[in-house]
Amino acid sequence: MSGHTPAFPPRHKGEIPTAQLLAKASRSLLDVWSEEMFRGPGTALDVLGQRLIIFSSPAAIEAVLVSQADVFATKPAQLSKLLAPLMGKGLFIAEGAGWQARRPLTEGAMASAKHGLDEVITAWVADWAARPDGAPIELMGAMQQASAHILLRLIFGAGVDAAAAAEIARLARAYRARISGPGLVTLMALPEPLVRLRLMGEAKRIHAAVEPMINQARKTGGGLVAALPGLPPEALRQEVISLFAMGHDALSGLLAAAWYLLAQAPEVEAALHAELASGDEDQPMTRAVLKEALRLYPPVPLMGRVAARRTEVAGQAVPQGSLAFIAPWLMHRHAAHWEAPDEFRPTRFLPGAPLPEPFTYLPFGLGPRHCLGEAFALHAAQAALASLAQRFRLESLPGHGASPSAGLTLSLAARLPMRLRRRCPGG
Ligand code: HEM
Repeated sequence: MSGHTPAFPPRHKGEIPTAQLLAKASRSLLDVWSEEMFRGPGTALDVLGQRLIIFSSPAAIEAVLVSQADVFATKPAQLSKLLAPLMGKGLFIAEGAGWQARRPLTEGAMASAKHGLDEVITAWVADWAARPDGAPIELMGAMQQASAHILLRLIFGAGVDAAAAAEIARLARAYRARISGPGLVTLMALPEPLVRLRLMGEAKRIHAAVEPMINQARKTGGGLVAALPGLPPEALRQEVISLFAMGHDALSGLLAAAWYLLAQAPEVEAALHAELASGDEDQPMTRAVLKEALRLYPPVPLMGRVAARRTEVAGQAVPQGSLAFIAPWLMHRHAAHWEAPDEFRPTRFLPGAPLPEPFTYLPFGLGPRHCLGEAFALHAAQAALASLAQRFRLESLPGHGASPSAGLTLSLAARLPMRLRRRCPGG
């Protein structure tokens, strides 16, 4: 199966002045990586008096995320500043004893969670079936809405309909717009109270929309809310918003990437359709397409940590207070670890293909803070893609391509208009 190279941003060559780097970062965090970084072991630089180290060797990644996870337990203050107005001390940005107390609770609740997934996917299939062949679909909005519905149903149980999901997806998009794009670097540099002030309006609207859903779920004993009974009201709200915000954005990113990639690669699409027609319940090609989508477009393209004390990582001295970054975006396209790294080749994840080297493929992070939604996200994405691709395909429209960019999460495009096609006439 030949490879196809889907869109990625241009890469500059060599080092560039800090001001230029910051200007790039404020446009998109995918634009800051030079050509050489996709071949080298990492780099360190001082930006505005702060030591930044980008680790891109497997040994260094293992140290930061796993064996020295206690030294690198804290996420950058800038991240908390941007997310705290929305999720308070929710798990994603919680630290220390608070994180330690909550992680097992939430992880336990997520362990076998699948609430309502089949129902949401059935509604989604019915929605597409009601549209005519050739109907326009805006991929990004459609995936955000569908994944909001999946997540809300998971968290709050029955009683969450597609209209509520659309409204929350809209509010979440507004918050996300506030913390990405040209304003991001300025926002990061502002003191916390000012950032809070700027973001509180959007955050409050989300809190207000979620509150009745929590109350309803508490009454009816639905969803994950029912599996987190010990949490006081404020902590529960923080936790469900943290789960929703993390899960919804990343799942919609994965689904959008999978549909976009399939539309670019007819051979892969045909192999996926053949697998779905064969009734092979294991669906190795469907899973390989999703894994490859996560490699090429990792929804969380960059992870940051702060060194709590001076230490050494893979032979490199790391001063106390340094910001350590690990970039799935970089590792997943690193020439030392992947053949034809920028090509879409799901066959690399089929059973029997060599496994990726340890610590080079990390779409869900690694170590004690790895994603606790991984199993759910993979299951939900596989179930959704398999059910929908059985009956529909999405077709690219000339002049509308992806132009990937990233703030805290990766986005293929602001909007990506496509066309819905029925696979069988009358289907
Ligand atoms: C394709 C889907 C997803 C991807 C790629 C993804 C990716 C990640 C990554 C990379 C991290 C670690 C960040 C770090 O170490 O700094 C993370 C953490 C987290 N994810 Fe996910 N995620 C996905 C879906 C979900 C879902 C569905 C949920 C919840 C329903 C979720 C909830 C969380 C939470 C709560 C954390 C923080 C864990 C902690 O700090 O202890 N994620 N995710």
